[in-house]
Amino acid sequence: MVPATHANQETLLLAYPGNEGFAESLRLGLQCPSVDFDLRSFPDGETYLRIRSEVRDRDVVLVCTLKDPNPRFLPLAFLADTLRDLGARQVGLVAPYLAYMRQDRRFQPGEALTSGTFARLVSGQFDWLATIDPHLHRRQSLAEIYSIPSEVVHAAPLLTEWIRTNIPDPLLVGPDAESEQWVREVAGGIPAPYVVLEKQRKGDRSVTISMPADVRRWMDRTPVLVDDIISSAMTMAETVRHWLAAGLPAPVCVGVHAVFAAGAYEALRAAGAGRIVTTNSITHSSAEIDMGRALVGPVRRLLAQASAV
Ligand code: R5P
Repeated sequence: MVPATHANQETLLLAYPGNEGFAESLRLGLQCPSVDFDLRSFPDGETYLRIRSEVRDRDVVLVCTLKDPNPRFLPLAFLADTLRDLGARQVGLVAPYLAYMRQDRRFQPGEALTSGTFARLVSGQFDWLATIDPHLHRRQSLAEIYSIPSEVVHAAPLLTEWIRTNIPDPLLVGPDAESEQWVREVAGGIPAPYVVLEKQRKGDRSVTISMPADVRRWMDRTPVLVDDIISSAMTMAETVRHWLAAGLPAPVCVGVHAVFAAGAYEALRAAGAGRIVTTNSITHSSAEIDMGRALVGPVRRLLAQASAV
């Protein structure tokens, strides 16, 4: 428990079920108490919600990672609305993994731009948003689609720290052009050399990877694949297969967001990956890197900013 003398009594933290590890790390940093609540489904699937703590005139930080966002979004909206209805001054969302960031363009005529729709829905429920490495590919910032204040935290410094501490003589490997931004930063911080491969996506679970011709010059180094999202794990699994086929050591796989669709973790293991390590932006057995502490400063800034309005 947080000693009362050091606790921030203005702020409360509510951990959506399944987010307890990350939320506790953030709560300890914020030195604030938790919101006690009941959330369950009625037999017909509708949501029952009861807030047991006093939230009047408090600022509430709601923590919910957004892997599998569809069944989570409606309960989140009920939570935000009920907290406000009970007198909370502000309700902010910490979504360590932010969903619906990839469909940001109509690749085929008639496709939904779900990133924009989801951003409008979240912006309508919360006063602010904090997240970790959202998949900003064709967009520069969350502000292009989110109308609420937001803070983005980068995992690269903690990935750098983990690799520097745990992997001797690493070679950083980015599986595709998009990964170059974090691979370059992590490699620079260690410091270690890096290579970036070429990827072609052929379908949801089908990718081809091209390796550099001179890859065997890195024989003496431990390859460390770094990517933001591991979803079907096909990107990493295909890279691991190529790496092993070239007679090189089994790569360590480091991901920020352990999305791991059904069977993906097992497929990556079966491909021959070495150690698989992720952050706790999503609760998973591979999560060894705590990001909760990195959110403390940004959340404090957002709370102060919203209070000043
Ligand atoms: C791609 O744009 C991302 O940076 C990841 O490489 C991708 O989301 C990984 O997906 P999967 O695990 O399904 O290959």
